[in-house]
Amino acid sequence: TRPIVIAIDGPAASGKGTLARRLAAAFNLPYLDTGLLYRAVARRVLDRGGDPADPAASEEQARSLSRLDLERGDLRTPEVDRAASAVASIKPVRAALLDFQRRFADASGAVLDGRDIGTIVFPEADVKLFVTASLDVRAKRRHLERLAHGIDPGFDSVRAELAARDEADRTRAAAPLVQAKDALLLDTSHMDANHAFTAAADLVNKVL
Ligand code: C5P
Repeated sequence: TRPIVIAIDGPAASGKGTLARRLAAAFNLPYLDTGLLYRAVARRVLDRGGDPADPAASEEQARSLSRLDLERGDLRTPEVDRAASAVASIKPVRAALLDFQRRFADASGAVLDGRDIGTIVFPEADVKLFVTASLDVRAKRRHLERLAHGIDPGFDSVRAELAARDEADRTRAAAPLVQAKDALLLDTSHMDANHAFTAAADLVNKVL
């Protein structure tokens, strides 16, 4: 089969990561969670005592990002959630990360998930999916994840943090979260992971 690019976008805790991983395994494609790029930039800025909302500090860290930064174990904390959303609104940060994302798919195609993959990073992707779910469903999932890690911030706090981050991602000027016109919408509010995978895999099989 020829190398194909599968672009998956959607808000936080929509189920896009789970879907992306399963598609990558099923179609033997490399997988890139692009949220990790923004998280790693944010982590580097915080480590240096900088302000993630400061364009110069964040651009500098985006330019010196390495693959190893993506493997750190401390990229999924609530502090990094907020800082990642802040660095992601800075245009030069996004520009610095664009090449990395495009080159990732060069050799053998890829599955990438994020906020702007089908709109900006790979507007010519072979398959585009927009995965979403209601705020309550997403908050419940994220709350359960935190509980599994032994942390209980409370459902209301998790829900409020998600709502704030989505609002920031949807309304920013640089590459806002929006469904590409040619993306298939998968609302996973009342859909289990198997159902979402089957619907997505059907679409991929059509373009192979
Ligand atoms: O997907 P995840 O929650 O890990 O992403 C963290 C943050 O990175 C998002 O809130 C968003 O602001 C940013 N992001 C982005 N574009 C992407 C992926 C993530 O702006 N393609």
